[in-house]
Amino acid sequence: MRVLGIETSCDETGVAVFDGAAGLLAHTVHSQVDLHAAYGGVVPELASRDHIRRLTPLIRLVMAEAGTTAADIDGVAYTAGPGLVGALLVGAGLGRSLAWGWGVPAIGVHHMEGHLLAPLLEEPAPAFPFVALLVSGGHTQLVEVAAAGRYRLLGESVDDAAGEAFDKTAKILDLPYPGGPALAKLAEQGEPGRYVFPRPMTDRPGLDFSFSGLKTFALNTVREELAHRSDTEQARADIARAFEDAVVETLVIKCRRAVEAAGVDRLVLAGGVSANRRLRERVDAMMAQRSGRAFYPRLALCTDNGAMIAFAGHQRLAAGQSEALAFTAMPRWPL
Ligand code: KG4
Ligand code: ZN
Repeated sequence: MRVLGIETSCDETGVAVFDGAAGLLAHTVHSQVDLHAAYGGVVPELASRDHIRRLTPLIRLVMAEAGTTAADIDGVAYTAGPGLVGALLVGAGLGRSLAWGWGVPAIGVHHMEGHLLAPLLEEPAPAFPFVALLVSGGHTQLVEVAAAGRYRLLGESVDDAAGEAFDKTAKILDLPYPGGPALAKLAEQGEPGRYVFPRPMTDRPGLDFSFSGLKTFALNTVREELAHRSDTEQARADIARAFEDAVVETLVIKCRRAVEAAGVDRLVLAGGVSANRRLRERVDAMMAQRSGRAFYPRLALCTDNGAMIAFAGHQRLAAGQSEALAFTAMPRWPL
């Protein structure tokens, strides 16, 4: 079965063709980073308009790269939510229409299920069951995965997502959008231990997270320290390092608890923040200590992309699921 996947939930236009026998045939992502940079964040209206401009040519390009014509496509998968509703409607509208025109089934995929299953596109793929840490700009969730489609939420952020905390703290440090990667880069120059940020909600049992306090802590530290340190560049790097260490250690503590509670030795990391190098190193070390293993997708499949949607859609279509001609986009949609 060969599936066209379309992702337009936020500021990346992603398209891919996945084949059940041959694997990922082609995928491309167009990032709107430059479009939104001047505004310091994603402007929903501009995002929708750009998806409209890019999507059709991108589909043609990816299908050509995959050596695929419409006649070879057995189904169309698109991100149906959660995300920006106008952006979602672009992918949903075009995806559903193409499927209708081609006479094949369509399926609306949950964006986070896409992220969650992305590591299965890699070799070696993690076997079920596993625990997944989903860390993106909109979500921080620990999920027990018994099989594709069988998910149990173990814990999640009660306020800001980890990626959101990275982005907001990056803004406080005057870093350009998108803030997460920029903050991680600045943190490389930081002196570890110069500042110590709290590890929120690690002093009590449970698997929930809270990251909104860290940006307030960062704001206060910036105000106090930048006023009386002469080496302000180094001070900014030290603060970035302290923030990153706090987020990473908090995530690792909860991941350890989650794999212990679930009794599994496989941990999957997915979502934009799983591109963070220090997080990967610390998670690897923690899982190695437990004689287990951590899995994550290649960097291009950590952030938003069409490959994960094509793959997740393929799993569902191959299991016989599809949807009626009427389609919806769901800005909010629990996993
Ligand atoms: O999954 P994603 O591309 O989009 C959402 O679904 O949200 O994740 C984007 C998030 C942003 O908050 C971005 O700052 C963060 O992932 N991110 C990072 C890194 N790369 C991306 N955060 C920390 N370190 C990174 N290297
Ligand atoms: Zn995402």
